[in-house]
Amino acid sequence: MNKLMQYLIISAAVLVMATSAQGEPDQRVRLNLPAQMQVHMLGNMRQHLVVIDQLLGMLAREEFDKAADLAEAELGMSSLDKHGASHITSYYPKQSRQFGSNMHMAASRFSRIASEGDALAAYKALGRITQNCVGCHATAKVR
Ligand code: HEC
Repeated sequence: MNKLMQYLIISAAVLVMATSAQGEPDQRVRLNLPAQMQVHMLGNMRQHLVVIDQLLGMLAREEFDKAADLAEAELGMSSLDKHGASHITSYYPKQSRQFGSNMHMAASRFSRIASEGDALAAYKALGRITQNCVGCHATAKVR
């Protein structure tokens, strides 16, 4: 079995686990964000998903440097100021904050790995970003 196949099987297993977790009671903390901040935060979130989609497209086209630059600018440690991260973190419980900072670190790590041009390593590194999206989503909600 080649490495890509192994990777696809692992991804499918994670998806199945995530789906079954939806049957469990909702244990997410409800964040008390001011209305304006909530609108802004959800807009950022939708943009995060756009970026993940763009990164997948770039990897598929082997545009490694483009993917590295986009990830660092939009999700990496360089993006913190842009998203007003320091302002919003105080509203999150500790566990969510941990996923948040791990997500930014994983994005900067993805950026370094992608620039080396190994597609499989880059896909794995992208998976370590999305793990933290999924992780945080299990901890908090706004409504
Ligand atoms: C620090 C925690 C955290 C991280 C990290 C995080 N999110 Fe979110 N995200 C949230 C919360 C909280 C909500 C609101 C969920 C709710 O109320 O149901 C949300 C909502 C969303 C939404 C729905 C937006 C809308 O308009 O309803 C999308 C899409 C999303 N996130 C994508 C992502 C992606 C992609 C990533 C990773 C690159 C990510 N998020 C990382 C906390 C996080």
